[in-house]
Amino acid sequence: MKDINNQLFSPASKITRADRERLHGHRAALLWFTGLSGSGKTTLTQALEEKLHQQDYSTMILDGDNVRAGLCNDLSFSQEDRSENIRRIGEVSKLFIEAGVFTLAAFIAPVQKDRNFVRSILGENEFFEIYCKCSLRVCETRDVKGIYKRARAGEIKNFTGIDSAYEKPLNPDLVIDTEIETVQESLTKIFQFLRDKNILTDI
Ligand SMILES: Nc1ncnc2c1ncn2[C@@H]1O[C@H](COP(=O)(O)OP(=O)(O)OP(=O)(O)O)[C@@H](O)[C@H]1O
Ligand SMILES: [Mg+2]
Repeated sequence: MKDINNQLFSPASKITRADRERLHGHRAALLWFTGLSGSGKTTLTQALEEKLHQQDYSTMILDGDNVRAGLCNDLSFSQEDRSENIRRIGEVSKLFIEAGVFTLAAFIAPVQKDRNFVRSILGENEFFEIYCKCSLRVCETRDVKGIYKRARAGEIKNFTGIDSAYEKPLNPDLVIDTEIETVQESLTKIFQFLRDKNILTDI
């Protein structure tokens, strides 16, 4: 039993995370991809998930686009709501990890404190911050969703990189330079990182 805010909570289940990981046959972890819009978070999480899935990993992607449409559809893009958005995603990720699922999160998450919060609610070797490094100039040239054009035209306010700050990760676990690497090179680097950290070790 845990004492949280002076209330006693019994464990919700008799099955442990280790039991679930054994069932899946692999460890669970959260890879958090952060970076400007257009820096490659969605591209890399999708490509990575495809490869992991082919190797029988149980995976889940949380992405700005699927979370904002449901779980967080009551939140705006104010500083306060952005933090709440990340807090909820962090808590949901934690549940996925409890379920033994290899979880990939693709969110700009512009504030270091918010990313640190997610790290703080997960255990050692469970949260990995992957910085998709790409200059605003190149992201804007890519303009995958045409969103920079709209932000420059003033149609979208508080857009990260334009009129809202992006705090570069202070101490990321991995930096992926999507400005100079191909998607395939970035993927190779991520897989090497996962092997080095023994995250992909079967159990
Ligand atoms: N090494 C690389 N890794 C990822 N994407 C790359 C790389 N090199 C080029 N790209 C291209 O950059 C673009 C990245 O777009 P993507 O939608 O993945 O960005 P995003 O970070 O998810 O943006 P948003 O925050 O708006 O969702 C794609 O067109 C992709 O093909
Ligand atoms: Mg995306």
